[in-house]
Amino acid sequence: MYKLYPYFTNDGSVGLFSPDADDIYHSVYGALTEAYEKFILPANFEKYFSENNEIKILDICFGIGYNTKSFLNYLIDFYYNESIDSNNIKYNNKIDTDNKKCKIFIHAIDTDKNLACLSPFFISNKTNIKNNKLIFKNEKIKRMLSNNIQTKFKLNKEVNILLLEKIHKYIDNDIMELLNKKQYSVFFDKNIRRLFEFYRNEESIHTSLKKINTFLHNIYYRHLSNSYKMYLNILKWLDFDFKLSIKDARCAILNDTNKYNYIFLDAFTPTKCPCLWTVDFFKLLFEHLEDNGMILTYSNSALVRNAFLNAGFQVGKIYSDSAKKFTGTIATKNKAFIKYDLSEYDLGLIKTKAGIFYRDENLNLDNESIIAAHKVEVENSNLMSSSRFIKHFKVIN
Ligand SMILES: C[S@@+](CC[C@H](N)C(=O)[O-])C[C@H]1O[C@@H](n2cnc3c(N)ncnc32)[C@H](O)[C@@H]1O
Repeated sequence: MYKLYPYFTNDGSVGLFSPDADDIYHSVYGALTEAYEKFILPANFEKYFSENNEIKILDICFGIGYNTKSFLNYLIDFYYNESIDSNNIKYNNKIDTDNKKCKIFIHAIDTDKNLACLSPFFISNKTNIKNNKLIFKNEKIKRMLSNNIQTKFKLNKEVNILLLEKIHKYIDNDIMELLNKKQYSVFFDKNIRRLFEFYRNEESIHTSLKKINTFLHNIYYRHLSNSYKMYLNILKWLDFDFKLSIKDARCAILNDTNKYNYIFLDAFTPTKCPCLWTVDFFKLLFEHLEDNGMILTYSNSALVRNAFLNAGFQVGKIYSDSAKKFTGTIATKNKAFIKYDLSEYDLGLIKTKAGIFYRDENLNLDNESIIAAHKVEVENSNLMSSSRFIKHFKVIN
């Protein structure tokens, strides 16, 4: 039986743990905050949308969709409310939405259908997590949990409504079973569940305006009703196309003819999921990235950066103002997009054994085989060890 391991992270959004990968899906510090800080803010969307009103995004490892949701949220804030840019400066971009239509295509890929289908239901703004207990055992996560939540970013309800509209058709009985499990109910938004019931009962919400009005009239959750009206309003200026591929990302991208403006790469860490960090996978991404496009990832690993370089990308770093440290990597074809270059230290590290990247020439190896071949390559390499390099670097600096 499929099991979920959800908990409230320290910003009030739900995070997940995977016992199989022995890895967290989201930072305990805050799942929503992490998506904003590692993917949305460094993407410099304010500049992108000041010049364009069409965008194609590839969300690799969609999970429960924080990166896509944060992007949609950013966009709604950008057009309607206030948004903040990568320097934490507030913007107010109220536009004449009658005259401007924004066209978005998001291709979301994950191997786990259950997670993708549950994505619109997860709560992301729990304000009170006192007595925040884990429903599963994990000392490491437990130690990092705080009782005081710090909400930095707020997800508009319309985001989950937008996503539900695209995803509800994939929801089968197995997923219904998960949705109905009592132990998970605290993690799901009851109003989105109610809206889902409506979708299930009606063939298509768009077929009849009368049905929508009856629905809005009957619904007693006032805020959902308001959010739904807002959602209908958003659809006047937003042309939102969403494709969900429940497949290994390599296979999904091999069969994709699109080129993307942004690629979010949010796989489990390289040692847990090497197949999505190989030089060969990055070469495939190179073919699917627009000339002015950008790949964002949370990994700072030397082998990941070296693989990007060897796949033909220009590589830079992501800096987080709030964490006051580098929190990821940017790969692009256009050097002008790089705000923080790799340092002498980063480039030195790449030339050591730590920079030896994973390989998967035919894009079909399993993770164990990739790790085994990499181990042999490292053992046979004459390159300097990373520890020796670090010692040497400290001495001369
Ligand atoms: C770190 S989590 C991603 C979290 C996600 N971005 C979110 O907002 O919830 C990694 C995800 O990679 C997916 N995954 C693992 N191997 C994959 C593969 N070969 N292709 C596509 N997805 C994969 C897992 O199912 C998991 O959802």
